[in-house]
Amino acid sequence: MNLSRIISGTMNWGAWGVNHSSDKMSELILSAFNNGINSFDHADIYGGYTTEKTFGEAFLKTGINRENVFFISKCGIMYPCEKLPIKVKHYDYSEKHLIQSVENSLKNLKTDYLDCFLLHRPSPLMNISEISNTINYLLKENKIRSFGVSNFTVSQMEMFKGKLKISFNQINLSLTNLDSIFDGTLEYMQANNIIPMAYSPLGQYYKTDNPRLKKVVDLFSKKYNCSDDQLLISWLIKLPSGVYPVIGTTKVERINKSLGSLKIDIEKSDWFEILEASVGKRVP
Ligand SMILES: NC(=O)c1ccc[n+]([C@@H]2O[C@H](COP(=O)([O-])OP(=O)(O)OC[C@H]3O[C@@H](n4cnc5c(N)ncnc54)[C@H](OP(=O)(O)O)[C@@H]3O)[C@@H](O)[C@H]2O)c1
Repeated sequence: MNLSRIISGTMNWGAWGVNHSSDKMSELILSAFNNGINSFDHADIYGGYTTEKTFGEAFLKTGINRENVFFISKCGIMYPCEKLPIKVKHYDYSEKHLIQSVENSLKNLKTDYLDCFLLHRPSPLMNISEISNTINYLLKENKIRSFGVSNFTVSQMEMFKGKLKISFNQINLSLTNLDSIFDGTLEYMQANNIIPMAYSPLGQYYKTDNPRLKKVVDLFSKKYNCSDDQLLISWLIKLPSGVYPVIGTTKVERINKSLGSLKIDIEKSDWFEILEASVGKRVP
C-alpha cells in the first residue's frame, strides 16, 4: 500500500473553504508530495460537488505520476446544493448510486481508479448485501483498489463481516474528541486490521478556549521542541491501532510542518498527562 502516514484532506481547499484556484492547488499537491505526503482525501460532496474537479485539473498540472499518489474518495451523502436538485439531505448507498458516484469521482479526478473508496456515513437504510456485491464488482473492475467506511460504529462494521473486507474507517478523532478511544471502536479496528484514518485531528484546539489542555500541550511542545499542532498529531500517532491523521490545512507551510509529528515519540507518562488534561480527570 502506497499510503503516506499523513493524509492531506481537501474539504476546505475549494468552495467550502478558501476557494483555491487549480494553480494554487497544484502548488499544494506538489509541495506535499515532494515532502512525503502522497495521499489526498476527497468526497464527492466537497465544495458542493465541485472540489474534486478543480483538484483533478490541478493534479494534471503537477506532472506527478498517478501511480505514486493515493486518492481517497467517499460517497453516499446526498446534499442539497446549487449543483444538484436534492430536496432533503439524505444518504444513498444503492448499487446505482455507488457506481455512478465512483464514475463521477474518476471523471473529476481524471483517473481510472480510486486507491480507496469510503462510505461517508452510515445510513439506517444500508442494505449490506447490495453494498457488498456492488463494492466487490467495483474492486473486480479495478475502479477502486480498496474499500472502507467512515463514521462507522463497531456494530456497523460488524455487519460486513464475511461479506466484504473493510480496510479503513475514517473517524472523528483528536484530543478534543476521544469517543473512539473509549467506546471500543479503536480496539475493534486493531483486532480486525482496519486502519483508522483520523479526520479533524486538531479537533477544537484552535476553535474553542480550553486553557487546561492548552497549558499542558504548551508545556510538552517545549519539552519535545515542536509546535502545538505537531504535538496534537504525534499524540494520535502513538495509539497502537496505527492512526493515519487526515489533516485539513489549506496552507503549504502547515502541510509540510505536519510531517514533523512523525519524528516525535511522546513518553508514556507524558501521553497520559496530556490525556488527563483533555478529559479533566485521571484514568481510573
Ligand atoms: N469523513 C468525514 O466525515 C470527514 C469529516 C470532516 C473532515 N474530513 C476530512 O478530514 C480533513 C481534515 O478535517 P479538518 O479540516 O477538520 O482537520 P484539522 O486539521 O483538524 O483542522 C484544519 C483547520 O485547522 C486550522 N489549523 C491548522 N493548523 C493550525 C494552527 N497551527 N493554528 C491555527 N489553525 C490551524 C486550519 O486552518 P488553515 O487552513 O488556515 O491552516 C483548518 O481550518 C478534511 O479536509 C476532510 O478531508 C472527513
